[in-house]
Amino acid sequence: MTDAAKLSIGGKDFDYPVLTGTIGPDVVDIRKMYGQTSAFTYDPGFTSTASCQSTLTYIDGDEGVLLHRGYAIGELAEQSSFMEVAYLLLNGELPTKEELAGFSTTITRHTMVHEQLAAFFRGFRRDAHPMAIMCGVVGALSAFYHDSTDIHDPVQRTIASHRLIAKIPTIAAMAYKYSVGQPFLYPDNSLSYTGNFLRMTFGVPAEPYEVNPVVEKAMDRIFILHADHEQNASTSTVRLAGSSGANPFACIAAGIACLWGPAHGGANEAALNMLREIGTPDRIPEFIARAKDKNDPFRLMGFGHRVYKNYDPRATVMQKTVREVFDSLKVSDPVFETALRLEEIALNDPYFVEKKLFPNVDFYSGIILSAIGFPTEMFTVLFALARTVGWVAQWNEMITDPDQKIGRPRQLYTGPAQRPYVGLDQR
Ligand code: SDX
Repeated sequence: MTDAAKLSIGGKDFDYPVLTGTIGPDVVDIRKMYGQTSAFTYDPGFTSTASCQSTLTYIDGDEGVLLHRGYAIGELAEQSSFMEVAYLLLNGELPTKEELAGFSTTITRHTMVHEQLAAFFRGFRRDAHPMAIMCGVVGALSAFYHDSTDIHDPVQRTIASHRLIAKIPTIAAMAYKYSVGQPFLYPDNSLSYTGNFLRMTFGVPAEPYEVNPVVEKAMDRIFILHADHEQNASTSTVRLAGSSGANPFACIAAGIACLWGPAHGGANEAALNMLREIGTPDRIPEFIARAKDKNDPFRLMGFGHRVYKNYDPRATVMQKTVREVFDSLKVSDPVFETALRLEEIALNDPYFVEKKLFPNVDFYSGIILSAIGFPTEMFTVLFALARTVGWVAQWNEMITDPDQKIGRPRQLYTGPAQRPYVGLDQR
């Protein structure tokens, strides 16, 4: 702890402790402030608020740094695997070969879902957005796994965590299959986590499905890039839901609902739709002008970030992965050239430079996902699939945090003061 922070309010002076983390900004501990001053802090959108202590993920927005348990995202994306990153986020250290094998086997053995869960899909229209299906089906999981909903039992917390990480790809693949009218495929335990997901999504019972190793590696890397990201909106939703003691399945369903928003995880779908609407580079100036026009609600989707005021390191890896996948699969998409040109123009435009708006993780992801064969409606489902690892790790950290209590913010009330009721005849 460094020097105290001083606050003068109502003619009185107050000192509040300043807490220092391993790296990153200090925090002013204001937990006693309301009791001492009868005033709240005011911070809509929590732009200056730390909601918790965490050891999972560190972001330096000015430098464009992202660390998971101290390991840089670029190194993890190049050298690790999604299962290994999941183990790292859940347990705090990189696994040994034996630990990784054991963890992967445990996850693999939980990939099947209760057979009656398939009935939930039949209630949806075939053209239902897959994120609507994910919200509904994941929220219903607690109806099937009562034996792992006691949040105070560490054994049950671990089982629920493994079930969520293991079953989310199966449910995601089922959501896709339902939308295209194809039968669900059961998991194949001989495949990797990501290979299994690809087969359940793109395979059909009528013939064997060969997992393309280039696609498998690219997909696994995309999952790594989306695994966790500090206290973003959906993670904060999971933590807030969990703070009431809600079961982990309900908490993850809440996170999925929040992620769906176009300002958050829904931006990957919106970004590709935007790039397709722009079409050719000659139309870019028109969209840049709209993004800068205060009277136009249009924003460049996949650009800007609450924390990154530099290039999102995940976008760097994502752009590189587009090139690798295109070269390897011998495919191309003119929208990639449009995206590169849009980035170049925006990063040289004073509006974007002054506001420090850079491409974020969602700007390039849709281009790869589209090349692999996913429809745009599935993009945020894939984000939710990967982020389930981070949500589960953050939920576990919150539940075991001694400082944890139910989240209950206050407000600045600007409504009417108390007034007498007026009968209907007098109005
Ligand atoms: C994700 O939090 C996370 O970590 C999220 C995430 C994760 O992994 O969990 O990283 C994933 O959600 C990435 C972000 C995906 N969203 C988008 O790409 C949607 C487009 N981006 C914006 O809507 C916006 O940049 C946000 C929502 C991402 C961040 O918004 P902030 O921090 O609240 O900033 P703001 O809306 O107050 O904008 C600051 C200024 C404003 O102008 P002024 O009012 O100050 O004049 O920048 C402008 C905004 O109008 N601005 C943009 C813009 N983003 C911000 N102008 C044009 N295009 C944009 N994309």
